[in-house]
Amino acid sequence: DIKGFVFDLDGVITDTSIFHSQAWHQVADKVGAPWSKELEDGLKGISRMDSLEMILKAGNLQDKYTDDQKVDLATEKNTNYLKLVDQMTPDNILPGIKAFLDEIKNGGYLLSLASASKNAPKVLQKLNLTDYFPKIVDPKTLSKGKPDPEIYLKGAELIDLKPEQCIGVEDAAAGVESINAAGETSIGIGDQTILKAADIHFADTSEMTLANIEKQMN
Ligand code: G6P
Ligand code: MG
Repeated sequence: DIKGFVFDLDGVITDTSIFHSQAWHQVADKVGAPWSKELEDGLKGISRMDSLEMILKAGNLQDKYTDDQKVDLATEKNTNYLKLVDQMTPDNILPGIKAFLDEIKNGGYLLSLASASKNAPKVLQKLNLTDYFPKIVDPKTLSKGKPDPEIYLKGAELIDLKPEQCIGVEDAAAGVESINAAGETSIGIGDQTILKAADIHFADTSEMTLANIEKQMN
């Protein structure tokens, strides 16, 4: 039986995935790496330094920068990202999410957050959602990022549940892969062509309700 939900943040709870893309696009332009829809989708769920490596690789530039220069590029991206985050309000919560969080909280389900973002606590604060997530996986403690199962396993562990008692909620292909490898039930939200591996699919966050989840469970 399902007893808890492990949530991704960016692109699921709020549309910060657009802000991440915007800030990375600037970096890609700066270093002269080509930007594409595939790269943009592929970056979703990927840690800050791994994202930079993917961008540099797309331009065959991975050996052009020293480690220090890479840290500078990633820091610049984060500064630009945080400027966008600073302007956020609870209006940036995606449609239906607040209602769904209330529905599962009132239904007695446990909740944790499995975001690769070091900025997750800050984003939750801007959205006034901190109280919903007393348990947050600290990405600094991870040895491997998504698609490795580690982050979703920790998300279940934090709420004292077995993976099979949890549903993981994601917008990224790497995230769905991580949930599936952890042995949890996966919900993929967004473009079905890139979320084929998800057990349950919703085109949009507004479709996510317990009743609609049950309809897709077997
Ligand atoms: C999430 C986002 C990624 C982002 C990563 C790290 O997984 O989907 O786009 O790169 O977090 O975020 P951070 O805020 O730590 O740079
Ligand atoms: Mg995401």
